[in-house]
Amino acid sequence: MQKTVFITGASQGLGLELSRYFSEHGYFVYAGCFSKDAPLFGPGKVMKGDVSDEKDVRRMFNEIEQLDLLINNARFDPSKRKEGTTDSDWWDMNMQVSLKGTYLCCVAALEKMKQQHSGAIINVSSIRAIIPNDLNRIPYGAAKAGQLSLTRSFAKEAAPYNIRVNTFLPGAIETENLMLRITKERHLEVCREIPLQRIGTMEEMCHAVMFLAENTYMTGAIVNCSGGLLMDM
Ligand SMILES: NC(=O)c1ccc[n+]([C@@H]2O[C@H](COP(=O)([O-])OP(=O)(O)OC[C@H]3O[C@@H](n4cnc5c(N)ncnc54)[C@H](OP(=O)(O)O)[C@@H]3O)[C@@H](O)[C@H]2O)c1
Repeated sequence: MQKTVFITGASQGLGLELSRYFSEHGYFVYAGCFSKDAPLFGPGKVMKGDVSDEKDVRRMFNEIEQLDLLINNARFDPSKRKEGTTDSDWWDMNMQVSLKGTYLCCVAALEKMKQQHSGAIINVSSIRAIIPNDLNRIPYGAAKAGQLSLTRSFAKEAAPYNIRVNTFLPGAIETENLMLRITKERHLEVCREIPLQRIGTMEEMCHAVMFLAENTYMTGAIVNCSGGLLMDM
């Protein structure tokens, strides 16, 4: 039977590339999106909804029969703070998608996967879960760190049902929007800070996520793909 994957945040960036990659590798892709439409690259279905809204999450998961893999990739972009946003609102905005959204999707996926007695979940965190962040990115880093705890707890809960839950932890990614978010000078600076001296490609990220998806003896693990920014994880 064709394997299925639900990728949240598949309208752009890493999620879109994961959607293409998993399609090319024979998966039926449920492509999640929120304000934009997600393209499809093969057999699949677009899943429009807010991952931080329990009703939306239930509706989307109810449309899925068999689920082999969930990739919690959606996030609120931390470079998008508007002038006048209060610190309290900023905290909530960052927590809603990355942390609450990951939690709600894990709960819904687990219910389905427990019945199947199989499945896997990958939570896409970030190097910012580990390194100190500038003032503006503190809530984002905290949300991404919270995902590490979600992975650990859901992995323990899910293991007796033959379900694996892992964290993918990227460093900087060469997404199509990277140069809209940082200047050329900052790009060079970032590359110099990375031991491998460059930003990771989307292909390299997808390859690591696929490894986590397909390996059948890893659970509760963190796969760090950061060009050496983070070592010994
Ligand atoms: N970019 C990097 O360098 C980097 C580095 C480390 C880790 N990461 C992690 O990698 C993942 C992907 O990053 P990215 O840069 O590709 O992300 P991105 O370009 O900011 O895209 C975010 C995605 O999340 C979706 N989304 C936003 N709010 C949502 C909501 N309420 N409900 C459902 N979906 C929602 C967006 O959908 P719409 O466009 O349809 O609104 C979009 O598809 C994230 O988890 C991020 O933390 C990225």
